[in-house]
Amino acid sequence: MRTTQRWTNLAVAAASALAFATVFAGLLWASATAAQSAPQREQEPEPTPDPVSAPTDKPVAQAAASRVAASASAPVAVDLDECRRRLDAGGAQIDRDCLRRVYALPIGQWPQPLTDPGARWSELAPLPKQAPYPPDNPPSPAKTALGKRLFEDPRLSGSGQIACASCHDSELGWGDGRSVPFGHDRQRGRRNALPVAMSGFAAHLFWDGRASSLEAQVLHPLTDPREMAARPAAVLRRLRSQADYRRAYADAFGSPGIDLARTSQALASFQRSLVPRFNRFDRFLEGSRNALDDRQLWGLHLFRTRARCMNCHSGATLSDDGFHNLGLHFYGRTLQDLGRYEVTGDRADAGKFKTPSLRNVAKTGPWMHNGRFATLRGVVNLYNAGMPRPQPTPQQIGDPLFPQPDPLLHPLDLHRTELEAITAFLETL
Ligand code: HEC
Ligand code: HEC
Repeated sequence: MRTTQRWTNLAVAAASALAFATVFAGLLWASATAAQSAPQREQEPEPTPDPVSAPTDKPVAQAAASRVAASASAPVAVDLDECRRRLDAGGAQIDRDCLRRVYALPIGQWPQPLTDPGARWSELAPLPKQAPYPPDNPPSPAKTALGKRLFEDPRLSGSGQIACASCHDSELGWGDGRSVPFGHDRQRGRRNALPVAMSGFAAHLFWDGRASSLEAQVLHPLTDPREMAARPAAVLRRLRSQADYRRAYADAFGSPGIDLARTSQALASFQRSLVPRFNRFDRFLEGSRNALDDRQLWGLHLFRTRARCMNCHSGATLSDDGFHNLGLHFYGRTLQDLGRYEVTGDRADAGKFKTPSLRNVAKTGPWMHNGRFATLRGVVNLYNAGMPRPQPTPQQIGDPLFPQPDPLLHPLDLHRTELEAITAFLETL
């Protein structure tokens, strides 16, 4: 039954993540469709231990009756320990009163995150107002303004037509809304444009972590033949020829001079100024516990506990700053992308990508390094199925480079309404 259920979940997941359905066709579609006719968990929920109903050894009908009666009457006062126990039980429903009471407590008294050995997690926290910056590049209004101007200026590209903002658009959550971007000569890029609003907090930049500071990162897109395809000397010539840029650099740095280091410092300062503000989740964490509705709060509870998201997404940024293989590497196929391995050359890194921040995540679709997930619900469904876990073909057996699934990922076996709650929570970030 468990296997059938797994395939059923995979089928549901694959159906939502349509792009996946086609790519994984050979691997699992046949079994998945075969399982589609099997009863689904969402259609036939097991009788869930309802928190406000009487002991579970009652006949089901009687339990259901008392459930209706109980939910109609005023909530029975229970102590907090009993509440915590009730929240642990999964299923189609949750005791909303207990949920509210437990999450009204200070964060340190919330249910402990459910994580696995090896997880590097830290407690959830509001985002700091300012992203950290290196001592040699303190922010200033003049520098940030110059950075904004450079960010939006297509003169930074070889063709004079592509700006940073072409692929990092404030109206698209600082990404570009495409699975992979179009760059120089409308060439398609290889990976999904990462949103830059949270980059000031990231320990590693890019999906494979190949840059470690915003100052160092700038040259990559500028010179990438598929992105801006510029020669830095030509860009600097163009900037120096403009009197207003000469003034703006002098204002920002206190002396005249336009060079690459200053250009990247200004761009870095601008990107550090993009920290998302005033979102519901921060208000909730800062004490406005009504900022999340019941379903979003239930999603938060699951995110911490049975969905095990905090194995990798935690702290203020909702990232462990680590790299993990979610099975999206297409090893040995046309779309192969081995991620972190391409930077480190370490086999253990094959197929690993950085854990992105989930702040603003509802605005930054499509999702994942290859941009193949069109809906957040599709992402959540696939986590519920434990992610794809491609198996080696007979020729690949024993291949030391074949990416190993991450030990922090498991099939979750969550109920449909639980998956909806997690999705609703993601939308508050
Ligand atoms: C043609 C589209 C395109 C253009 C133009 C572009 N980028 Fe990007 N950007 C991307 C893509 C795609 C990625 C992810 C690439 C990867 O991880 O391999 C990315 C990643 C980044 C990241 C890493 C974010 C993180 O948190 O890891 C930063 C920062 C960034 N870009 C800044 C810039 C700046 C600054 C410019 C202008 C100088 C620029 N980009 C121009 C497409 C673009
Ligand atoms: C084993 C670590 C791990 C766990 C556990 C995990 N994630 Fe992720 N998450 C990642 C990594 C790594 C990526 C990027 C993977 C890629 O693109 O190949 C990611 C990407 C995502 C994205 C897409 C973000 C974007 O900007 O494209 C979402 C949404 C997400 N995770 C939500 C969740 C939720 C919800 C859970 C719990 C059900 C969860 N994650 C559990 C590591 C993890």
